[in-house]
Amino acid sequence: MEKRDFLYEGKAKKLFRTDDPDLVIVEFKDVATAFDGLKKESLENKGILNNQISSLFFHHLAKENIPSHYVKTLSERDMLVKSLEIIPVEIIVRNIVAGSLAKRMGLEEGTVLKKTVLEHNLKDDELHDPMLNRYHIYALDLATPEEMDTIETMALQINQVLRPFLLKMNIVLVDFKLEFGRHKGEILLGDEITPDTCRFWDAASGEKLDKDRFRREMGKVTEAYQEVLRRLQEVD
Ligand code: TMP
Ligand code: ASP
Repeated sequence: MEKRDFLYEGKAKKLFRTDDPDLVIVEFKDVATAFDGLKKESLENKGILNNQISSLFFHHLAKENIPSHYVKTLSERDMLVKSLEIIPVEIIVRNIVAGSLAKRMGLEEGTVLKKTVLEHNLKDDELHDPMLNRYHIYALDLATPEEMDTIETMALQINQVLRPFLLKMNIVLVDFKLEFGRHKGEILLGDEITPDTCRFWDAASGEKLDKDRFRREMGKVTEAYQEVLRRLQEVD
């Protein structure tokens, strides 16, 4: 399957058409951004690492009957996926308090939540991805109640599958962001599952193995991504 017309460039990925209208190619870039693109740097080989990491997560989810857009890995940076009509709502799943939840609610990072929290953000960098609820989603016609039921059920299932999977590799799944889309009448998980979109903490030391190392200028960013990939390859 070859890359045809360039379709779209996001912050961390590019999209290309293929000869099949139902399939597109995602190219993972080395660019890392934070704070809605305000902070931006190239991290050598991040794209290669994220392509492999996301492939392994999508594989594992497929084994657990959770459908995603993933079809196959084509090369170091390229992944073949089903074309989606993206629903512009980011779903954040939180098991432990961190990041914006800590700030917004004045909570201490690391506090274990009594119940998993789901949040919805409008996918719009210029507006800084404002939080919204189901009323906004229906009023703005972003998704139907049936679609939101499916999306939330899938998001919670993904959490149920990934938490023990990651714990086997001594990684705590603190929180993560998911995107979903429509493909031939079905809701599929889209985007990526990588240290760019998840918070991963080493279970023993609490060391951060994710993009917070970049956001907070902690150094050793790609080394952390490499470590996540190493553990995933060991367990798979
Ligand atoms: P937050 O604490 O900054 O709201 O982030 C929660 C989780 O969502 C964290 O794992 C990082 C991820 N995330 C993204 O993937 N993209 C984004 O634009 C934001 C704000 C968060
Ligand atoms: N992905 C967002 C950005 O690039 C925010 C983040 O992950 O911190 O700005």
